[in-house]
Amino acid sequence: MANDNTTPLAAKDYDQKINNTIPYYQEFYRQTLDIVRQCNFSNINWLDLGCGTGTLEKLIFQEFSDVQFTLVDPSEKMIKQAQEKLKNDSIQYICADSASIQFAGCFDVVTAIQSHHYMQEDERRKATKRVYNSLKNGGIYISFENVIPEDEDVKMFELLRWGKYQQRHGKTEEEAKAHNARCGVNYFPLTVNGHIELLKETGFHKIHVFWYSYMQMGIYGIRCKVQS
Ligand SMILES: C[S@@+](CC[C@H](N)C(=O)[O-])C[C@H]1O[C@@H](n2cnc3c(N)ncnc32)[C@H](O)[C@@H]1O
Repeated sequence: MANDNTTPLAAKDYDQKINNTIPYYQEFYRQTLDIVRQCNFSNINWLDLGCGTGTLEKLIFQEFSDVQFTLVDPSEKMIKQAQEKLKNDSIQYICADSASIQFAGCFDVVTAIQSHHYMQEDERRKATKRVYNSLKNGGIYISFENVIPEDEDVKMFELLRWGKYQQRHGKTEEEAKAHNARCGVNYFPLTVNGHIELLKETGFHKIHVFWYSYMQMGIYGIRCKVQS
């Protein structure tokens, strides 16, 4: 890995640069909070996979006082950034990738915001199954992910459009091209249907695509109570 994490941004520069790379990134957090608000959980036990620098948690703490967090990320540097940002001794940090977590039915909410597209198919399926296992019945998994259009021409069109977004936000043409060249090489996006199928296959019900823009989508799935 050339960097200190799987993203093209060093952990220390991540917060400053991510909004120039991914359109509407702050909206990902707002949508996530809105969905959890709607769930009406109390004393939320929340697992965030690929927590990065802890920006989501910072926002959650501004609104929810009754949250217990477990934050997971395979990058030590990202975890260090999150610890420095959050300064909260009640948070449990685990330096690991999502495919290796082992929790059983203990979380109300699991989130993975732009963190699972670095895994290849088998590993991602394993990680998603582990997410399912880690949720309580009635718990929700909320994920934002890169998406690949099924049609090759649409894919090229959308990659160019995404590149233009990055250039309008300060990247050079070369930097934008280099970022787009990572698609299918450094990260492995699924189609919209691929994301839905992955959640179905791993046991989720009540699956909903709640956000889609450029080449990112937001999806949630619920671990349903077993009907008696
Ligand atoms: C684009 S950043 C997103 C960080 C954070 N979720 C956010 O929204 O700001 C991707 C994060 O996923 C982490 N990551 C990479 N591979 C992962 C894996 N296999 N399991 C869990 N996290 C992973 C990276 O270390 C990085 O912190």
